[in-house]
Amino acid sequence: MPLWTGRFQKELDQKTNDFNSSISFDCKMARQDIEGSIAHATMLGQCGVIDKSEADAICQGLEGILKDLQSGTLEIDMTQEDIHTFMEGELTRRLGDTGKRLHTARSRNDQVALDIRLYLREEAQGLLEQIKELTETICVQAEAFAGTVMPGYTHLQRAQPITFGHHLMAYAEMFLRDLGRLQDAVKRMNVNPLGSGALASTTYPIDRTVTTRLLGFSDTMRNSLDGVSDRDFCMELAAALSIVMVHLSRFSEEIILWCSWEFKFVELDDAFSTGSSIMPQKKNPDIAELVRGKSGRVFGDLTALLTVMKGLPLAYNKDMQEDKEAIFDSVETVKICLTAFTPMLATMKVLPENMRKAAAGGFINATDCADYLVKKGLPFRDAYKATGTLVARCIELGETLETLPMEEYQTVCEAFDEGVYEAISLENCVNGRSVLGGPARESVLAQVKRVRGLLREDAASES
Ligand code: ARG
Repeated sequence: MPLWTGRFQKELDQKTNDFNSSISFDCKMARQDIEGSIAHATMLGQCGVIDKSEADAICQGLEGILKDLQSGTLEIDMTQEDIHTFMEGELTRRLGDTGKRLHTARSRNDQVALDIRLYLREEAQGLLEQIKELTETICVQAEAFAGTVMPGYTHLQRAQPITFGHHLMAYAEMFLRDLGRLQDAVKRMNVNPLGSGALASTTYPIDRTVTTRLLGFSDTMRNSLDGVSDRDFCMELAAALSIVMVHLSRFSEEIILWCSWEFKFVELDDAFSTGSSIMPQKKNPDIAELVRGKSGRVFGDLTALLTVMKGLPLAYNKDMQEDKEAIFDSVETVKICLTAFTPMLATMKVLPENMRKAAAGGFINATDCADYLVKKGLPFRDAYKATGTLVARCIELGETLETLPMEEYQTVCEAFDEGVYEAISLENCVNGRSVLGGPARESVLAQVKRVRGLLREDAASES
């Protein structure tokens, strides 16, 4: 039975009932719905809105429902309109009239606003843990390859030498910011809307701070219209998750490139690769490709949320029922992507020799060669031009800057001497960049140490 009988003479058309119903997805919030109702009933009892004994009976009844759902002795009736309707019906079936008192001073509008907050607050904790685990995995790989020289790219053209550890730690920094964004979203989400009623609160003498405390919220929402209309906590979470997916997608794209024969900088473990049904030689980075692909879903979810909300007058409108599938999907998608991505990264085999070979071609030490002349007193622009001429000469002779004979150097610029070979050795080029945030081995190790410290601090502040 729907909750809105009385005014109606007919039941909702059967097919339309399916269209109107949200139970197929809001059943995910069954436990949170019960927890919210227990807090609400407790508060009603404490404030004398209902008898204490009835409040106790309601709480016990709800606990019984939760137990039976968890043990499988009770199944959610999927023909009901939503999870709230199902719970109230089941409680009333068990308690009779007492069950009917639960919805005093409450509406499904503030109930659903509450349930989503409770649900997402928990899910966000799991996501934070997963991102921390990924960041730690990046640190492990970065530490192991802190001094491994590879070409750094701009425009996907070899640019300057860096280390693989440095490249990886760039992602650690991105995921650290993602953690911050998620924590921020949780802060604003963690405010209690219960007591907003349908839109205009209630005339019952309730104490909203009681449910705020019982449910572990940091504050109580201060405007009842906002309490039932606001879904910016969903949008904010979806936005933060979209950025996580941008980072995962870029990382995936690089892994896909690095696995190709053109690069061969890394090899994925067999457990995280797939084959082809026709080409026996193939080993495909499907997991990374899927993560890259699934970013589209999460951006779509964010777009859906923004679009659903943008034209709605205050307060609740049924359009808002569309919030759940979108935000649940983005949470589930990020969760499953991280579940596959982190162990793929942890088991990824790094091939330093191939990175070194790639770094040796492409004249990525040309900037250092120019800098060498600058240190000898030449203006940078002249040093740049002289080095450009040398690169052209190398290409003509099939040489590299390391192998080009000194006579060639001196023909272009007399300031060159034997010291240039040391200045342009890839190791020296990389290790010379030891400023804060640079790619030198010691700088990478310092980055790893700092990130680990922050992860630890974060874990400590949460426990
Ligand atoms: N299933 C609804 C939702 O998800 C619950 C709130 C319904 N309220 C109402 N007045 N129809 O948004």
